[in-house]
Amino acid sequence: FDFQALSGRHVCITAGPTREALDPVRYISNHSSGKMGYALAEAARDAGARVTLISGPVNLAAPDRVERVQVESALQMLDAAMESLHDCDLFIAAAAVADYRPVAVAEHKMKKGSDEIMELRLTKNPDIVASVAAAESRPFTVGFAAETRDVLQYARDKLSRKGLDLIIANDVSAEGIGFNSDDNAVTLIGPDSEETLPQSSKQQLARQLINRIAEHFNEQTKA
Ligand code: PMT
Repeated sequence: FDFQALSGRHVCITAGPTREALDPVRYISNHSSGKMGYALAEAARDAGARVTLISGPVNLAAPDRVERVQVESALQMLDAAMESLHDCDLFIAAAAVADYRPVAVAEHKMKKGSDEIMELRLTKNPDIVASVAAAESRPFTVGFAAETRDVLQYARDKLSRKGLDLIIANDVSAEGIGFNSDDNAVTLIGPDSEETLPQSSKQQLARQLINRIAEHFNEQTKA
């Protein structure tokens, strides 16, 4: 592990789920624990970077010497991400952002009616990592792709559709890795590179990923 790979750099990382409120007591969310994003924040810090960790609601303590910005919804995460951009060199999106949010948030707790079926109307959330990649004077931008089938193919689609520099393909259907587990296994994909990192703890994997990402980043900033 190279303890200076990112020295003097500012790394911004999103982590955890978002919560999309339905009413004052209910929300739509997912099973992201924040473990992967927090491990990346620690690894980036250990590689010498100043780290901003934009975190959805999780049960993890803020890592030492990392600036944590806590958010709930995708819209709040987008605001925090855009605010971090003015001096961010490298952006890594590990958060599991809800793709949709309720069209309206009820002011009071929704009452159970007599109907057997209740329909929710949802509207698309903005794509945070794509917005970052499209920003003026953009940072080196790395996304994840959480897929349950055709993992590498869908990841490559997301790499180009979202305008990213690298994407980390994550098979979230496999037992023991992905959402909420302590381990992960991924493939790091660039426009003309592909490297598989076998199953290990999210801490160990984060260190490998940060090393590899820093190499790609330093290569690009040299060019
Ligand atoms: O948090 P853990 O329990 O440790 O689990 C880790 C993880 C499985 C959540 C993580 O490794 C992971 O794969 N994160 C991405 C989850 C995801 O929502 O992927 P996606 O394929 O739906 O999104 C693709 C990329 O776009 C991601 O970088 C995501 O952060 C980003 N995105 C998606 C939607 C949106 N509105 N804004 C975004 O920025």
